[in-house]
Amino acid sequence: MIRGAAGLRIAVIGGGIVGLACADELVRAGHDVSVFDPSPAGGATRAAAGMLAPGGEAWFGEEALLALGLDSLSRWPGFAADLEQRSGRHVDLRQDGALLVGGDRDDLTELLRAAAFLERSGVRADELDRPALRRLEPSISGRAAGGVRLPDDRHVDPRRVASALLAVLGERVLRARARPVADGVVLGGGDGVHVPADVIVLATGHAGLRHVRPVRGEVVRVRSCDAPTRVLRATWHGERVYVVPRSDGELVIGATEEEHPATPQTSATSDGPLPTVGGVARLLDTARALLPGIDTADVVEVMARDRPGSPDNGPLIGPLDRQGPARLLVAGGHYRGGVLLAPVTAAALRAHVDGLEVPATARCFTPDRFKYPTHHRNEDPCT
Ligand code: GLY
Repeated sequence: MIRGAAGLRIAVIGGGIVGLACADELVRAGHDVSVFDPSPAGGATRAAAGMLAPGGEAWFGEEALLALGLDSLSRWPGFAADLEQRSGRHVDLRQDGALLVGGDRDDLTELLRAAAFLERSGVRADELDRPALRRLEPSISGRAAGGVRLPDDRHVDPRRVASALLAVLGERVLRARARPVADGVVLGGGDGVHVPADVIVLATGHAGLRHVRPVRGEVVRVRSCDAPTRVLRATWHGERVYVVPRSDGELVIGATEEEHPATPQTSATSDGPLPTVGGVARLLDTARALLPGIDTADVVEVMARDRPGSPDNGPLIGPLDRQGPARLLVAGGHYRGGVLLAPVTAAALRAHVDGLEVPATARCFTPDRFKYPTHHRNEDPCT
């Protein structure tokens, strides 16, 4: 590990956007940090659409998660500007809001119920009739029943953010599997190299975290000459889809949600799980109904990754209770919100490490809210 005089030796296991953001924050706090991941930013971060959409993602009963998301959203402009300045890389943060679209009256009724919930929670949500919707985004089908505008939602390109974080972290990121032991981490399988650490951070998404399960998401990337300019999130005859425009002309179409208790050998490669015919067909059918102009779009990429879902859909951020000279903390289980929640997670994790005041919105997301929140000792935490 890279070791300086002042800081703690910290091993972060997992180099997705959350692990990298935590590592960066800890480096800036003066610690000696190493990140271990065989494929940094190659998991859920690679598939993520990058919607910074606490409003668009919120659901009834998730008020604490909504507050955490709103806190993190407010940190994004500073987080992005600072990262761009230090890395010299553009992360494509866009602040043009999002449109929720209802395909029929029933879909719209559901959207309007969600919009009323958001307004009660302090999120601006403006109802739009069909002409107003199509004036804002002419590429939306004339069959849409109406929609809701969320002017404060943002989006970012997670691949660019990860690449900027990897640039600033440099040689601190090691392409290696690691598992936690009492006083550090062990690399590779079996009797690999032992790396001592004072603090271990499990940022493995779902792998090796009790109470966190994989929820498969499939995503299609296309290039269209009839693309919307804002994020669209549609419910179309009960099917859901979102479409996120990138400034390089790509559209990210996502995402399925499938519970996969374990990845069977037939549907996984070393590059991650494989998409399914049904999942991709449903996504594209719904996207084409929403945006008829994408019928002739070029398909650039189809991929599947597992999101880390916790029992209450909220992340686990904070210390794990275990014996050993090294303290063990977790920053995982971010489910649909890894990109949105990266800045507040990094701030909260750093506060837990250094004994500082944890942001108020993150205090109820410590892992001790679940019973037995310990690491599965016989599972590889970095798969
Ligand atoms: N946050 C978008 C998704 O999980 O599909």
